[in-house]
Amino acid sequence: KRPKITVIGSINMDLITKTTTIPKIGETVLGQSFHTIPGGKGANQAVAAARLGADITLIGCVGNDEFGKTLKEHLLNEHINTTYINSVEDTSTGIASITVANGDNSIIVAPGANYQLTVSHVRSLEHVIANSDMILLQLEIPLETVEEAVRLSAKHQVPVILNPAPIQKLSRNLLTQVNYITPNEHEQHELLSLLNSDELEQIRQKCIVTKGASGVAIHQNGAEQLIPSYKVDVVDTTGAGDTFNGALAVALSSGKSLNEACHFANAAASLSVTKLGAQSGMPTLDEVQQFMGDSPPL
Ligand code: RIB
Ligand code: NA
Repeated sequence: KRPKITVIGSINMDLITKTTTIPKIGETVLGQSFHTIPGGKGANQAVAAARLGADITLIGCVGNDEFGKTLKEHLLNEHINTTYINSVEDTSTGIASITVANGDNSIIVAPGANYQLTVSHVRSLEHVIANSDMILLQLEIPLETVEEAVRLSAKHQVPVILNPAPIQKLSRNLLTQVNYITPNEHEQHELLSLLNSDELEQIRQKCIVTKGASGVAIHQNGAEQLIPSYKVDVVDTTGAGDTFNGALAVALSSGKSLNEACHFANAAASLSVTKLGAQSGMPTLDEVQQFMGDSPPL
């Protein structure tokens, strides 16, 4: 049966410039090309999970503008339920200004409408949360909205994956209530630095730490275990973490073990970096299964 996953998060238009030289302050350089590609961590994770065969509802906000219209249509084409995406007045749709240089990226996000995703909007959708197999959250919407979503999920015993990106200070209460936390190495450092030693152990158990090309680290029975990734030709790593999270949600809510789920999510994320743009390279279930059969992890 197809898992029902609800993603509550950001929807952006990514404005991507490819360049070989990154300008210094006050300098102008010539780039190679410009691309407008749908993004936003919430939408990216929703698309990743939808392509892998889950029933996805995305809760979020766009502006009442061209980007907002385009992005909603795009999500519909990806078979995502967009009923609970609000178009808000007087605020622009979220954008990310992305520079891709030699496979690496730097990103400025202007959240716009994403910050209009309110506690009361999420509260009015308690029934949607309650009817989900899994909730997937990131930190590109107001923190109080994330906290309310986590509270409602816990109330209905719906498991939550929290991708703490971009990282900010999180309450112990929040970290205690979520089931899985998926920081990268930098985010994990920030996250754990705020905790005392008792809490540290408890929260560390929930962490699935993404380490780029090296794979992911999980903690089981007090020991760290590294689940290796796959070797691929990198074009653009933007959205690799989002692909990992979307795939992880699908695998875990389909009953896979944490170990199997991480292998699967690593494979999906590896495929995603072979194309420019966050969503462009996100694979289908067939593509991941074929890839895993063809290329065993490193
Ligand atoms: O994680 C990648 C995403 O971060 C991009 O798509 C961009 O929109 C920013 O939100
Ligand atoms: Na990509």
